[in-house]
Amino acid sequence: MALLSHHLTLSLRRNLRLVASGCRYVSQTATKTVSEIEYDAPSMKTPVPGPRSKELTRQLGEIQNVGAINFFCNYEESRGNYLVDADGNRMLDLYTQISSVPLGYNHPALMKALANPNNLSAFVNRPALGILPPENFPEKLTESLLSIAPIGMTRVQTMVCGSCSNENAFKAMFIWYKNKERGTNNPSAEETSSCMINQSPGCPDLSILSFMGAFHGRTFGCLATTHSKVIHKLDIPSLDWPIAPFPRLKYPLEEFVQENAREEARCLEEVEDLIVKWRQKGKPVAGIVIEPIQAEGGDNHASPDFFIKLRSIARKHGCAFHVDEVQTGGGATGKFWAHEHWGTDDPADIISFSKKMLTGGYYHTDEMQPDKGYRIFNTWMGDPSKNLFLSEVLNVIRRENLLEEVTRCGKALLQGLYELQSQYPHLLSRARGQGTFCAVDACNDVTRDNLLVKIRDKGVLLGGCGEKSIRVRPALIFKEYHAHQFLNIFNDVLSEYK
Ligand SMILES: Cc1ncc(COP(=O)(O)O)c(C=O)c1O
Repeated sequence: MALLSHHLTLSLRRNLRLVASGCRYVSQTATKTVSEIEYDAPSMKTPVPGPRSKELTRQLGEIQNVGAINFFCNYEESRGNYLVDADGNRMLDLYTQISSVPLGYNHPALMKALANPNNLSAFVNRPALGILPPENFPEKLTESLLSIAPIGMTRVQTMVCGSCSNENAFKAMFIWYKNKERGTNNPSAEETSSCMINQSPGCPDLSILSFMGAFHGRTFGCLATTHSKVIHKLDIPSLDWPIAPFPRLKYPLEEFVQENAREEARCLEEVEDLIVKWRQKGKPVAGIVIEPIQAEGGDNHASPDFFIKLRSIARKHGCAFHVDEVQTGGGATGKFWAHEHWGTDDPADIISFSKKMLTGGYYHTDEMQPDKGYRIFNTWMGDPSKNLFLSEVLNVIRRENLLEEVTRCGKALLQGLYELQSQYPHLLSRARGQGTFCAVDACNDVTRDNLLVKIRDKGVLLGGCGEKSIRVRPALIFKEYHAHQFLNIFNDVLSEYK
């Protein structure tokens, strides 16, 4: 115990010293706090994974499956936009732990929150929030999650990860649908007995409509609405729920307005047909779930008009409308929520989040509130210490105008991708993005995978998505000079590509 506290004190002291003294100066335009701690460029010592990462992968392989491990990291040495690996390679991180790091590594504001004695009990004691919340919980939720609540939503349910947020949001939609259908919250005796043996009417044959290419998580309910990659789905029993086509648009969007509008109309028509078909099949659609930009499925965009029309189709057919902002939420598109780009004051009934929000959960309208405790429930139902960090993240976003910065840097990033695709049309196409939430397609999957490795060996970490896309997901502290660092390295790799 004494050893643990000694270690914690030492590591806090070390990190706080870094906060105070700074180690590298980057640029006049960088935010002060980040420039105090950040490195100035990537620095590569070995190919990635290097020998130490390979040895650690071998060791871990004796304990777990390591098939997805890229390399091991040194999080103590990582700073701001730069991730340091176990071999001492320093990479500009444009993938940020699958798009889940809001302020980069070891941000001073978060270090300070951790060192604040008033926060200690929140870090040490993890409550079962559904039954024994801390006395400051309403105040802390108001300060953090409610301060950025989507328009029209005053209620929020915290959860742990993206999948459990979606899973519980689906349950909330089913409960709402059945109570509406019954006209009462009181189930019949037949319903209460049949639900215990997984039979109708207690376990009704309801469905959720999702879209081809969508990713909503890997737990059973979520997986039935995930259609991005075979690896997620194979061998897992699933539900017979309707799957609509997601618009396959041409980019840049502003050059293909008419054609894209026709494609969106086709998909919306299909949605209505599916809702009718599934009702006739005896599996009515209780809810529709959609991402504002399909991320894992290939960074597929759709227009505000598409989402607004989809929302009204949901209402017309009595289905709840769930917008999954697990990846798009938290500022990367230049607005706090991607659905804000739709410009409507009634975007959804449920909006789920996780990743950059640090805590999972979902906002919902009053109607989606379950009628009893324990209907939406698990042991932790979130983690109040994550709300403390989120409050700090929000303070930094506001203080440093990070959403405007994301919009500005995103333009430079996308412009750079346009230039690269016109310089290397045989390798790249379909550059697209909103804020720094950008992507570009390679000519095929093998080239995409090769490009990702070559770029990484030169010090930039990126992700793949969809069949052959490269996705860029920097933290909110990403600056224009980071965009140029990346674009220069990308250009070097493309010019050498055989
Ligand atoms: C849009 C979306 N929904 C849900 C999830 C699932 O989140 P988690 O991996 O935290 O369960 C993800 C994860 O990538 C996601 O991108």
